[in-house]
Amino acid sequence: VPAGGTHEPIDPVRFLGNRSSGRQGVAVARAAADRGADVTLITAHVEEAVRADAVHPHVTIVSVGTAAELSEAVTRASDDADVVVMAAAVADYRPASAAERKLSKEDGRLTAIELVENDDIVAGLVAARRSGQTIVGFAAETAADAADLRERGIRKRRRKGVDLLAVNDVGEGRGFERPDNALLIVGPGDEVVAEASGTKREVADALWDAIASQRTTGR
Ligand code: CTP
Repeated sequence: VPAGGTHEPIDPVRFLGNRSSGRQGVAVARAAADRGADVTLITAHVEEAVRADAVHPHVTIVSVGTAAELSEAVTRASDDADVVVMAAAVADYRPASAAERKLSKEDGRLTAIELVENDDIVAGLVAARRSGQTIVGFAAETAADAADLRERGIRKRRRKGVDLLAVNDVGEGRGFERPDNALLIVGPGDEVVAEASGTKREVADALWDAIASQRTTGR
């Protein structure tokens, strides 16, 4: 379970990042361990207090920083994983080069940063998926309404090629940095297989129910 948000360095003190706290991913990891799974939780910038919730004899925690580091750790851990739940918020782009020294106005004004695209980690997992392996993606969307959220989820699951996609609305006051969450889980037949809301742990349990059902019945 990759969780949290990557930081892409601009210079030694600045980065491009996102608002993921890692709470939902940590809850997913913990819920799996409580059901008896051996879990590797790969955290990108998840606060210690949040990570503490995943401490369990069956959870191995690996910490990473950038999308490239996350990609390497995910590739290694997914080799023998039955299920990968890609809950991390991966930066799509990184600065083409990170300055070795802090950028200063004395060196000239910085008004643009050249970006290069990061690899799509989940696309790599899908391409290398073994038979019997389930790959679950997450998508945070700012949808106009419930129907739009559902349509976006269906489109993105197809585009990503994942078995299941958990999609949540992160409009004003929802999703990020909060203890609760609400999401739709879209399945391979382009249908919503489950809707979950409540604490991030309750949502994580609903997600594992959907994953277990998908793995046993294909639905
Ligand atoms: N993801 C990934 N590698 C990336 C970007 C995203 O593995 N470089 C994964 C995320 O971890 C998530 C899923 O892809 O499980 C969907 O992420 P999202 O950012 O919504 O996907 P994008 O393809 O970047 O779509 P958008 O253009 O809407 O941001």
